[in-house]
This record gives sequence, C-alpha cells and structure tokens, in this order.
Amino acid sequence: MQREKILAPSILAGDHANLRDSLMLANKDGRKWIHLDIMDGHFVPNLSFGPQTVLDLRKHSSIFFDVHLMLEQPDRYIDPFIKAGADLISIHLEPQYDHSGALSKIRKAGIKNGIVINPDTQIDGLIPLLDQVDLVLFMTVFPGFGGQKFIHEVLSKAEEISGIRKKQNLNFLIEVDGGVGPDHVKPCLEAGVDVFVAGTAYYKLDDLGRRQFAEAIESS
Ligand code: DX5
Ligand code: ZN
Repeated sequence: MQREKILAPSILAGDHANLRDSLMLANKDGRKWIHLDIMDGHFVPNLSFGPQTVLDLRKHSSIFFDVHLMLEQPDRYIDPFIKAGADLISIHLEPQYDHSGALSKIRKAGIKNGIVINPDTQIDGLIPLLDQVDLVLFMTVFPGFGGQKFIHEVLSKAEEISGIRKKQNLNFLIEVDGGVGPDHVKPCLEAGVDVFVAGTAYYKLDDLGRRQFAEAIESS
C-alpha cells in the first residue's frame, strides 16, 4: 500500500441523526479517508451501526472507507461490508477465528485489509501476519467509546512494529485510533504512525483547527 500520512476522521463522533453531514464535512475539508467503527455489543460494550448505514453513506462520497470491525466474529461480516463499499476492512487479533483466512478473503475481494490490537495485547501474535496485511492498527484506548484519553504507552509497540517493517522491507501502514488529538501528532509520527484516526478532537475543532490538525499530519 502506498505509504502516506493521513488524518482519518472517525464518524462515530459525528451526529448519528445526520451522519451524511458528518461525512460531507470531512469531504469538504479534503480528507482522503473516513473511519467507520462497527461495534457488536459483545467484543466491545457498545453498539454503533451496520452495513446498511455504510452502504447509504457510500452513495454520497468516494472518500476512502476505512472500516474497523470491533466484532467477536468478524469473519462472518466481511462480505456484507465489502458489498457496502468498504475500501479497507480491519479485524481484531483478540477473538478466536482464522485470522489469516479472513485477511486473505478481504484482499481477494480487491480491497485492503488491516489487523488491529487492543492496548493490552502484545505484538507477538501480529508478527506472523505482517507480510499479509496492508495496515496494522494500534488501539490507543480500549475500544467501545469515543472521547477517551490517549494511552501513550501504546506508541512503544508501534515503534517496534515500525522497526520490523523497515528491517523486513514491508510496506503496511501503521494506524492509531482512540483519543488522538493535535498534541499527539509529533510523538505518533516519531513512532512511525501513518494514519491518525480522530473522532472527538476532529469534530469539535473549528475550520481553522481542523485544517491545522490535518496539515500537521499530512504535510509532515
Ligand atoms: C473507539 C473507536 C474509535 C473512536 C475514536 O472505540 O474505535 O475509532 O471513534 O474516537 P475518539 O477520537 O473520540 O477517541
Ligand atoms: Zn476505530
């Protein structure tokens, strides 16, 4: 995957009675990606929205849809999200299923794949999958809710994976998700992060603030 620096607004922090406007704001700002959080009430203690919502949003924009499945059985829901127009589907390492098979199914459908780990998951289980992924997502909060505090300690894992990426000449993107705001840009860039998911921080900034936030990442 082409390596570039990206700010991906998380629509979870948008207005759920009017998600189209939240999408169009990111579009108007010139963002290339939007992050869509799918929660099942099992793997995480919250529910968000499903493939129908993704499909309906898809009609309004060609922005890159970065779909993050927080599901106990993500392998069962890959097809509906591909049909809904996902450009990338990321799945968690923690639940038990055929990770490698699911990652390959996503790629075979012609879209990008990603593997995600929670803040308290070690990187060992990621290592054998690194040559099969387009993106590695490090949760910088415990997933389930927007508006939580960024966990800095996660960056040491990102840094380690960034070192392995270099040594093994791999080209996946490194993404962080949870509590990310303008203050975290520098340490994340130093740890090798490429894609910055930001929900609460992005949607509460004014036009100038959002522009400066994006520039700090994308012009780096
Ligand atoms: C956390 C979600 C995040 C969330 C980030 O469960 O995976 O994508 O939307 O939102 P903020 O930036 O508000 O932490
Ligand atoms: Zn997410």
